[in-house]
Amino acid sequence: MSQEDSVIVRNLWRVSAALFVLMLVIVVTARSVSAAEDKMDPRVAASINERLAPLGQVRTGKIEATASASAGKADAKGAFQANCFACHGTGAAGAPKLGDKAAWKARIAQGKPTLYGHAIKGFKGMPPKGGSSLDDDTVKAIVDYMVSQGK
Ligand code: HEC
Repeated sequence: MSQEDSVIVRNLWRVSAALFVLMLVIVVTARSVSAAEDKMDPRVAASINERLAPLGQVRTGKIEATASASAGKADAKGAFQANCFACHGTGAAGAPKLGDKAAWKARIAQGKPTLYGHAIKGFKGMPPKGGSSLDDDTVKAIVDYMVSQGK
């Protein structure tokens, strides 16, 4: 081995030793950090989890709220098609058809609170909410739409 080679070998050993020590330091630090996490105040942990929660998840509540808030007129027709048309579009099971003024006259005369109640809680052949899982406000919006078409 030349003089130069032995210098290189000695330096390689030094670098390896330094890397090994560095690795030990990292392992020890990582352990103490995760131990500190275990002892963390649950409230602090909860707030950290909240902040780390994916943005989409945090925002869904808001999006749904806006969706049902605007479910009024425009969406009532679509919601009717999806949830009520099977009976009220066809007259199935003796359901008053949409736009059939004669069939709606006496029903509308009962007043909207009664119609809302029957639509939400059910009435004779009319299943509660037409068998859907819509929220009350959407059902009411659909009833408003049905009434407006039956006058
Ligand atoms: C499975 C069939 C069916 C579905 C689906 C259905 N309805 Fe009905 N609905 C009926 C029948 C039958 C009646 C008539 C009940 C009676 O007076 O005998 C009725 C009556 C009604 C009435 C009048 C109640 C009254 O007091 O005269 C309203 C309002 C109404 N439905 C709303 C809805 C809405 C809103 C939906 C969709 C969310 C819906 N229905 C879905 C069958 C259905």
